[in-house]
Amino acid sequence: MSQPAAIHLDDYQAPAWRILSTRLTFDLAPSATRVTAVLTLEANPDAAVGSDATPPLVLNGEHLTLESVRVDGRALASDEYKVDETHLTLAALPASCELETVVLIDPAANTALEGLYVSSGMFCTQCEAEGFRRITYYPDRPDVMSVFTTTVIADKANYPILLSNGNPVERGELDGGRHFVTWQDPHLKPCYLFALVAGDLVKHADSFTTMSGRDVALEIWVEPENLDKTQHAMNSLKASMKWDEEVYGREYDLDIFMIVAVNDFNMGAMENKGLNIFNSACVLANPDTTTDAAFQRVEGVVAHEYFHNWSGNRVTCRDWFQLSLKEGFTVYRDQTFSADMNSAPVKRIEDVAMLRTAQFAEDAGPTAHPVRPASYIEISNFYTLTIYEKGSEVVRMVANLLGEEAFRRGSDLYFARNDGSAATIEDFISAMSEASGRDFTQFMRWYSQAGTPEISARGNFDAESGRYSLTLHQSTPATPGQAEKLPLVIPVRMGLVGADGSDLALTLDGEALGTETVLELTEAEQTFVFTGLEAGADPVPSLLRGFSAPVKLSFAYSREQLAFLMQHDSDGFNRWDAGQRLALAALEDLMAAWQQGDTQASLDARLLAAYRFLLQSEPSDRAVLAEMLTLPSEAYIAEQQTVVDVDAIHWARKTAKAQLATALRDDFVALYHANEQQGDYAPTFEQMARRSLKNAALSYLMSIEDEEGVRLAQAQLAAAHNMTDVRAALTLLVHSSRTELGDPALKAFAERWSHDPLVMDQWFSIQVTRPQADVLDRVRFLMEHPAFSLTNPNKVRALIGAFAGQNRVNFHRLDGEGYRLLADVVIELNRLNPEIAARIITPLTRYKRFDAKRQALMKAELERIRGEKLSRNLYEVVEKALA
Ligand code: PHE
Ligand code: ZN
Repeated sequence: MSQPAAIHLDDYQAPAWRILSTRLTFDLAPSATRVTAVLTLEANPDAAVGSDATPPLVLNGEHLTLESVRVDGRALASDEYKVDETHLTLAALPASCELETVVLIDPAANTALEGLYVSSGMFCTQCEAEGFRRITYYPDRPDVMSVFTTTVIADKANYPILLSNGNPVERGELDGGRHFVTWQDPHLKPCYLFALVAGDLVKHADSFTTMSGRDVALEIWVEPENLDKTQHAMNSLKASMKWDEEVYGREYDLDIFMIVAVNDFNMGAMENKGLNIFNSACVLANPDTTTDAAFQRVEGVVAHEYFHNWSGNRVTCRDWFQLSLKEGFTVYRDQTFSADMNSAPVKRIEDVAMLRTAQFAEDAGPTAHPVRPASYIEISNFYTLTIYEKGSEVVRMVANLLGEEAFRRGSDLYFARNDGSAATIEDFISAMSEASGRDFTQFMRWYSQAGTPEISARGNFDAESGRYSLTLHQSTPATPGQAEKLPLVIPVRMGLVGADGSDLALTLDGEALGTETVLELTEAEQTFVFTGLEAGADPVPSLLRGFSAPVKLSFAYSREQLAFLMQHDSDGFNRWDAGQRLALAALEDLMAAWQQGDTQASLDARLLAAYRFLLQSEPSDRAVLAEMLTLPSEAYIAEQQTVVDVDAIHWARKTAKAQLATALRDDFVALYHANEQQGDYAPTFEQMARRSLKNAALSYLMSIEDEEGVRLAQAQLAAAHNMTDVRAALTLLVHSSRTELGDPALKAFAERWSHDPLVMDQWFSIQVTRPQADVLDRVRFLMEHPAFSLTNPNKVRALIGAFAGQNRVNFHRLDGEGYRLLADVVIELNRLNPEIAARIITPLTRYKRFDAKRQALMKAELERIRGEKLSRNLYEVVEKALA
């Protein structure tokens, strides 16, 4: 068998043919759907061709049964075209012609969830990145854009609702109880934005008046039992539409905008033109079933997909190497939107915490790649945190370097100039450059270099001359295929905090800069000298404020300085970060003690004092306080270690928490009561902040299994005000050492919620993240539970993903049973759903971070997987991991 080949950015060629219009007819039946495609073709005058003859037309097509081919009405004999497993090729076509193909497909057998498939009895599609080739023969690449007309035919009783992109233009009845609807999308689009839905659905309808006064119908389509879970998504959609008009000047461009919720979906959601398709987990929400975190996820994902209408659809990507052009920019847009809707500092803290744990780990692992990769084997493997989250950080740096107004001019220029076409990252950056006059030549290295840059900073204050000199040194570690790295443009937002806690006035090279500035580090090492400081100033630098660049910054702060910054830094993000640094230092002490066999060590008193201060002062921002009271996660601590010691990390974090709870017990009890719910539940961020503070307090109390804590948790669970409180209480009871607390509660919960798949996902996750050693049997047992299914990605993530990704001590058991379980699942998913297989395997691919014994066990499982007949997705990941 030939091995899958890599595709390279440098090999890009313009398409040989253009498609002026695409007319599709779907005759839907679960196991035999007939798709007729009529393409109006024209040889592309811009394409590089060798001779005068028209180039061959090479169409992608997989898992299709070809029934007929016609050119300009004439049926072709089977020797007039070539068809194989992946392509249909036609030679010697007239330079403009009409091609009709008819194929049969089998949606019911489609467990990969790419192309047309069946989910909970409804038909739906997922075409990004390369799913359209499972629907019909087509040039499946984003730079071929066409107008689409789609007729959907189906049995009326089973599929009363028939949807596709654009506007409905015709509908009618057919023989045999069938009916049809024809949809027309006037906007040019690549086929990855095509969508179709057919099912027995109900809608939540509303409308939005755009800035130019047009009325847009808004429809959220769901299964009937979910109609009471659509209000939050509708509110979020309207807020997104308004925000995009106000902040980016972007107006919606069709008469109707639809969202459909489906239960089986590989990703979060999809921005198909006028017909967004959502994983039900990212659109459905109501207080009884949905946590605050999930409410916020719904708001963010609805906004993200809506924003794609401009950043992705009106302006799309030339090729998949440009994926971050739409994803990085759109994540930046949704992050800014959520910051505006909620607590901006908390949104920043959450995004950075995720970036620094998960994206930094990816960037240091075997699949590290630049924001614009140079090559790939399977594009589905490149929907990564690097493309999305680091890509967003890169856009954020552009926005911050330019300032709000120039950035807006740049984005206006980008949209105007590239509207209706397929663009590159250069197109985006050159618009920013022209709008601002700024040169981005060196900055472009952010797109081509992989790996997380490291800055080491040192400072020196000379009291006599009143000078503070700050030296910043940058380097980026080698990543696979990229040994040498060049210096990047790194914006370091900073200030100097004086002994009284206030920001000092900054003078650099004779220029007065106010109390905060952005240093642009462009060389390997640079020194910045601030002058005119008072002899007694004794400045403490506050560096990388707001996390102004996606880098690791080290500075030899004393713990006293960290405690000081934690209280006084004027930048909310850096106050939190100083706390995290202080906590990390204290946790590292405990880990070192544990590694020496000392289990009696006590926590650094400075951290305890800092917590006491936090608990005893009046909170200015409750949501930030909840973040500050949260110790760094096990995953984040692991990221800071050279060799990860999972047991030491787990013990240290648990011990630190218990010691804080013991010392500050009464403060936590008071904090709990001070934040109990008053009045009715609402998903407002003020209420969310109170709930997170209250539940943080409860988790400290439960860490020592305090009797009052247990009582509060049980009462909170019984009161069942909302899923945030229920889930928090249930998790603490289930994760306690006393199974008699958790087991009956789990049973009651399952009885109440067995009809609701999204709630049962939570039920799975809560159990498999239990830190006790008995959990592995529970995971195996739950895999047999009737509510679990390997063909549903949400279930796989809730059970297997949560166990392997979040239950670190048990996944990394020294007998290798955790690894074996994951590998078994990966092998099954390789057949059923390669995309999910290649994602869920991630923890196994990070073996180089662990001790020799665990490395050997993990590698053995990877080798076992390699012994299978692998999908392209898994082949690429496993080969890179074992390289
Ligand atoms: N483009 C989608 C998004 O980011 C993600 C997606 C990719 C969904 C591939 C499905 C398949 O919004
Ligand atoms: Zn996206």
